[in-house]
Amino acid sequence: MATMYFTLSILLTLLHHSEPSAETSVFVQKGQDVRLNVQTHVTLKKDVDVIFWKFNTLHNVVKYPAKVTFERYQGRAELIAGDFSLLLKNLQEGDSGLYDAVVSGNNDRNVATYLIKVQERVEPPVLTVDSLSSINGTCNVTVTCRGQNISVNSSCNSSTCSQVGESRRAETSTVPLLSVYVAGGFIICNHSNQVSWANDTKEIKTICLEKDFDVTVIPKPEGDKEDHNYAVTVGMPGPIIHVIIIFVGCALIGW
Ligand SMILES: *[C@@H]1O[C@H](CO)[C@@H](O)[C@H](O)[C@H]1NC(C)=O
Ligand SMILES: *[C@@H]1O[C@H](CO)[C@@H](O)[C@H](O)[C@H]1NC(C)=O
Ligand SMILES: *[C@@H]1O[C@H](CO)[C@@H](O)[C@H](O)[C@H]1NC(C)=O
Ligand SMILES: *[C@@H]1O[C@H](CO)[C@@H](O)[C@H](O)[C@H]1NC(C)=O
Ligand SMILES: *[C@@H]1O[C@H](CO)[C@@H](O)[C@H](O)[C@H]1NC(C)=O
Ligand SMILES: *[C@@H]1O[C@H](CO)[C@@H](O)[C@H](O)[C@H]1NC(C)=O
Ligand SMILES: *[C@@H]1O[C@H](CO)[C@@H](O)[C@H](O)[C@H]1NC(C)=O
Repeated sequence: MATMYFTLSILLTLLHHSEPSAETSVFVQKGQDVRLNVQTHVTLKKDVDVIFWKFNTLHNVVKYPAKVTFERYQGRAELIAGDFSLLLKNLQEGDSGLYDAVVSGNNDRNVATYLIKVQERVEPPVLTVDSLSSINGTCNVTVTCRGQNISVNSSCNSSTCSQVGESRRAETSTVPLLSVYVAGGFIICNHSNQVSWANDTKEIKTICLEKDFDVTVIPKPEGDKEDHNYAVTVGMPGPIIHVIIIFVGCALIGW
């Protein structure tokens, strides 16, 4: 009997937790605007219901009716009366966080939940050639690509690059990715995050001709425009993702 109650209470907890809409993550480039829509159908009962958009569950951003933008958000936030969406302008890092829409009447009802993450544009990376060698007459180039907080060494020939050694990155910078690959006779280093990317490129022929190496570019199969399968990608290490998934999983179950 006790077990049954226990199970039931877990079930109720799960139901209770899943009632507000699951939060949606939105990445926004610093300085840009974003419009957040309500996630369920909303009609406001006249003279009873008021809709609030809140930041981090504590600070009111806007309300309607009457249409009010609260002090802290004057000039940077607006409620669109037609569909109750929230327009946030010129987002800065400090605006990252949870945005909730709540209809307050006889009860409070959550009608939208967003997790906003504001990111800066990535800086263009810098690709430098470290050494050249000839392997049985074909050109072997070692390059280093440096992004803001991350760098990676690769060894490339005319068809592919492979990573050499570990990538160096700042401990906490999980977001920017650096990938080095060969496409169309160029070595391409692509620095990217969720909102932007930038690249630096070097033509293999130009690098290798200086040393008279053979650089016969191998024709690509039809329809294979970019050798993305060769990309050396440095992202969040797998185990960390797993730990996060397990952690979130446990949190959901209510452990
Ligand atoms: C170079 O060519 C020789 C003979 O053709 C071969 O035995 C050797 O494995 C090749 N080396 C590399 C690095 O490909
Ligand atoms: C190219 O040269 C680098 C350094 O000289 C070496 O570490 C790498 O193994 C070479 N690449 C290949 C495919 O042999
Ligand atoms: C380029 O390097 C890869 C692996 O390092 C090798 O499999 C491939 O044969 C090389 N291609 C040329 C043209 O040397
Ligand atoms: C990349 O290569 C440079 C020079 O060849 C070396 O000083 C550096 O330690 C290497 N970095 C990594 C992350 O392996
Ligand atoms: C990444 O680099 C930027 C600019 O170089 C710096 O402001 C920021 O603190 C760095 N981030 C981390 C996590 O090291
Ligand atoms: C760079 O990476 C981003 C994100 O993965 C991708 O959208 C973009 O097309 C890439 N650009 C190039 C030139 O590879
Ligand atoms: C990627 O590199 C190419 C060639 O250098 C350049 O024309 C282009 O503007 C770059 N794109 C970005 C977004 O940096």
